[in-house]
Amino acid sequence: MSKKDSVRISIVGSGYVGLVSGVCFAEIGHRVICVDNNREKIKKLKKGICPIYEPDLDRLLKKNIKEKRLSFSGSVRDVVEKSDAIFIAVNTPPRADGSCDLQYVEAVAREIALSMRSYKVIVEKSTVPAETGKKIKQTMKLYNKNNAPFDVVSNPEFLREGHAIGDFMKPDRIVFGVESEKAEKIMRKIYKPIKAPVIVTNIETSELIKHASNSFLATKISFINAVSNVAERVGADIKDISKAMGLDKRIGSHFLDAGVGFGGSCFPKDVLAFIHMAQNLGYDMNILKEVYRINREQRKIVVEKLKEIIWNIEGKKIAVWGLAFKPDTDDLRNAPSIDIIRELLDSKASVCVYDPVAMDNFRKIFPNRKNLKFARSPYDAAKGADAAVLLTEWSEFGRIDFKKVKKIMNVAAIIDGRNFYDKNKLIKAGFIYRGIGR
Ligand code: UDX
Ligand code: UDX
Repeated sequence: MSKKDSVRISIVGSGYVGLVSGVCFAEIGHRVICVDNNREKIKKLKKGICPIYEPDLDRLLKKNIKEKRLSFSGSVRDVVEKSDAIFIAVNTPPRADGSCDLQYVEAVAREIALSMRSYKVIVEKSTVPAETGKKIKQTMKLYNKNNAPFDVVSNPEFLREGHAIGDFMKPDRIVFGVESEKAEKIMRKIYKPIKAPVIVTNIETSELIKHASNSFLATKISFINAVSNVAERVGADIKDISKAMGLDKRIGSHFLDAGVGFGGSCFPKDVLAFIHMAQNLGYDMNILKEVYRINREQRKIVVEKLKEIIWNIEGKKIAVWGLAFKPDTDDLRNAPSIDIIRELLDSKASVCVYDPVAMDNFRKIFPNRKNLKFARSPYDAAKGADAAVLLTEWSEFGRIDFKKVKKIMNVAAIIDGRNFYDKNKLIKAGFIYRGIGR
C-alpha cells in the first residue's frame, strides 16, 4: 500500500478484538499502534509474543512488527497525536444486573480528548448498547481542552474467535455508523483493501445492528436446543431436523447445531445487554429472556444424562473432553464446561479433563481443586472413567480410537454434548451413547 493510502491507526485495548483488528489493519498496509493498560501484555507484545491463542495471529503479529507497520504502547496519551483514527476496543463486561459496564470506554474517550490537538476519528469497536456513541461524544466534548475537531464512528466487529483473521479479511459486510462525510471517507479509506458490502448508517443503527445480529444468532441456537428437547422425548433426531430445516434458504444451515448451548464473551453478555437496554427504553424483550433461560438450562442436561446412566455421581470418575467454549480457542469466558464441571465436583465426582489448549486457563478458574485432574491426552482422561463427556468439538476428538477408549474406560459411556460423533458407530462399538436431542 502506498503511503498516501495508508492511515495512521491506534487501537486501544489489545484483547481478542483489538489485537486481531490491529494486526489485520497492519497486514493490509496501515501503520498501527496497539495500546493496552496491561503492562505485562504490552511487554510481551513488544517482544512479538502473542498473549492469546488465535489461529495465524502469531505469524501475522511477528510479520507486521518486522515490517514496521505494527508497534505497541502502554499509554493512550502517547499515541493520540500519532494517529488519524483511534479505535476503542476495550472490554465492556456485564454488570450484575446484565447491563453493559461502559466505564473503560468512558475512561479511554476522556483520555483521548485530553490529549487531542488535531482532527481525529474516534471509532467505537467494542460491542456497546445503542446511544453509547452519543455518550462518547458528550464526554469527549467535556474534556476536549484544546478544542480539537473530531468525529465519533460506530464500526462493530463480527469476528468469531478461532476464525477471527478470516472473518476480518473476508467479512460478510462492513458497517459504519457515521455523522459526517469526512469520517465516512476515512473509514472507507481504512477498509478499502477489504472486499465486502459496506453499509453506512447513523451511529444508533450501527450499534443496534451488532446487538441484533448477535442476539438473533443466539436465538437460533436456543431455538434449536428447545426443539432438541422435544425431539428427544418423541424419539426424533435433531441432527436430521437441523439439516432439513437448514436446507430451506430462508432459514439457512448455520447456527442450528444443538448442544450444551452457547458460551463465550459475546452471546451471553450481548443478549443480557440487549434485554437491559430495551427495558431502559420501555420495551420488554421477553423473547431474549427466554433465549437466555433456555441456554442456562441446556447446560444442566449433561449431568442429568450422566445420572440416567451411572445413577449416583458421588465417587464416580468422569472424563471431560474439551473445556473451551468452542474449538480453536483457549477462551473459557462463559464456557459451559465451567458450570458442568463445577456441578460434578460439587456432587463429589472425580473429574479428569483434557483440552488441547485451554487447560492452563482452566487451572486458573479451579486452582488446587480436590478431585480435579488434568490429563495429557483424551485417553489419559478416559482411563478408568465411568463415563466420558464431550463438551468442545475439537478436531482432535474426531480422531479418537474408540477401540482403545473402550478398553481403558471403566464403563464405556459417552455423553456427546455437541452431537459430534456418529451415534450408530459408537453404539455398534459397544458404547452407551447419549447425544443432545437424538
Ligand atoms: C471485546 C469488546 O470490547 C467487547 O465489547 C466485545 O463484546 C467482545 O470483544 P475483548 O477483546 O474480548 O472484548 O476483551 P478483552 O480480551 O478483555 O480485551 C480488552 C483489553 O482492553 C484488555 O487487554 C485490557 O487490558 C484492555 N483495557 C481495558 C485497556 O487497555 N484499558 C482499559 O481501560 C480497560
Ligand atoms: C460471536 C459471533 O459469531 C461474532 O459474530 C461476534 O462478533 C462475537 O460473538 P464467538 O463468540 O467467537 O462469535 O463464537 P461463535 O462461533 O459465534 O459461537 C458462540 C457459541 O455458540 C459457542 O459456544 C458455540 O459452541 C455455540 N454454538 C454455535 C452452538 O451451540 N450452536 C451453533 O450452531 C453455533
